[in-house]
Amino acid sequence: MRGKAEVIVGAQWGDEGKGRVVDSLGNRVDVFARYQGGANAGHTVIVEGCKYVFHLLPSGMLYSGKLCVIGNGVVIDPEQLIYELKMLQDQGKDRARLVISGAAHVVMPYHKLLDKAQENFRGRGKKIGTTGRGIGPCYVDKYNRAGIRIYDILDPDKLREKLTSNLDIINLQLSRIYNEEPVAFDEIFQQAIEWGKVLSPYVADASLVLHEAMESGKSILLEGAQGTLLDVDHGTYPFVTSSNPVSAGACVGVGVAPTDVSRVIGVVKAYCTRVGAGPFPTEDEGEVGQYLREKGGEFGATTGRPRRCGWLDLVALKFSARLNGMGAIALTKLDVLTGFDEISICTAYRIDGKEEKNFNSNVDFLNKVEPVYKLMRGWKEDISECRSFEDLPEAAKEYVRYIENETGVPVCLIGVGPGREETILRSL
Ligand code: GDP
Ligand code: IMO
Ligand code: MG
Repeated sequence: MRGKAEVIVGAQWGDEGKGRVVDSLGNRVDVFARYQGGANAGHTVIVEGCKYVFHLLPSGMLYSGKLCVIGNGVVIDPEQLIYELKMLQDQGKDRARLVISGAAHVVMPYHKLLDKAQENFRGRGKKIGTTGRGIGPCYVDKYNRAGIRIYDILDPDKLREKLTSNLDIINLQLSRIYNEEPVAFDEIFQQAIEWGKVLSPYVADASLVLHEAMESGKSILLEGAQGTLLDVDHGTYPFVTSSNPVSAGACVGVGVAPTDVSRVIGVVKAYCTRVGAGPFPTEDEGEVGQYLREKGGEFGATTGRPRRCGWLDLVALKFSARLNGMGAIALTKLDVLTGFDEISICTAYRIDGKEEKNFNSNVDFLNKVEPVYKLMRGWKEDISECRSFEDLPEAAKEYVRYIENETGVPVCLIGVGPGREETILRSL
């Protein structure tokens, strides 16, 4: 029977724990694939006390003999990718077989320069707080049909032609608009050719590879980066990333048909965090936020920036469940909520004196809303050793059940610690 694809999607503003969920489910999966974003992502996996942060490699890379794919929708910074591969090789952990889509676009050094220059150029209150990884400018070139793809860095003549015409414009932008030094053709050309030599053994038609895997009955996990509320179409625009993290983006980003997707698993952190600028209705800038940041270790896996923290927002989560067609929730970091007397959960927004149950990603709307909270009982017992739902304290069970009832989506996995085994698996 033809194998199926499942999508792992971030349900909030990223950093929900997608990497660890992919890793914790890895035993049931044959092929792992990333479908969008780039090295702006930082996916943490902890196995036997060793911590790995994947920016470009799929989070299944630690599974021996399995196939890992970087899809056409990902923007690849070859320097970062080669570094990640080398780190794994040095530790003898390069156990999976890697395939890179030739159609994926390359983040060139000037994309990173432009990303930072554009952020500096944006006035006060207008900064997005990007990761500086060149993501926006690379996707701009892609959609402008000027981008350099992985295929191009394998072909010196093609690369020379494309790079020459791109640099004509990029250097004008850098020098005339942003007051930055122009970049030199020769250095970038040579570097890109070197990258091409290192990466060429991995390059293939990734869509075909995935199709053939499914034809032979293999199951595929499509791993999203960022999160639903950072989606360029459905997120809190303009405070978003430049791709489509939502589940619908998965098919486009790897070249798999929607009919091959059997289920979407939304990764939901038991509270909310956000890095960078933009609206965040349940943000707590006081003691609660600080407690969550410290206890949850909420500092960016890519940039090290402190994450903004607050209570779980069910208004936003229901929107995310609808948009992604979530069939299951993987609820992470429930252990971080241990210790509170009471836990708040946002069930509605108040705006212009009225209660609103529907999320709207329009920033002007979100900037005006006040969260309406329901108070839930907290629990004090350490839950990090719990391995079944029944082991959890009653108040923790109530919290999980409340999320299930409100969203209408069953919780299939609960994270009670960052490690692979620190997981409660239910009804998978
Ligand atoms: P991703 O970008 O969605 O993969 O998430 P990140 O790796 O950026 O951030 C999630 C952080 O939470 C990482 O430091 C993980 O090790 C950690 N983490 C994930 N799941 C759990 C959990 O269930 N409990 C605790 N305490 N930490 C977790
Ligand atoms: P993972 O996959 C959290 C945020 C940035 C910024 C905005 C745009 O680890 O969940 P970009 O560099 O993409 O142009 O920045 O998006 N952002 C993330 N926030 N997790 C991520 O990835 C993110 N990737 C980008 O902070 O607000
Ligand atoms: Mg992350």
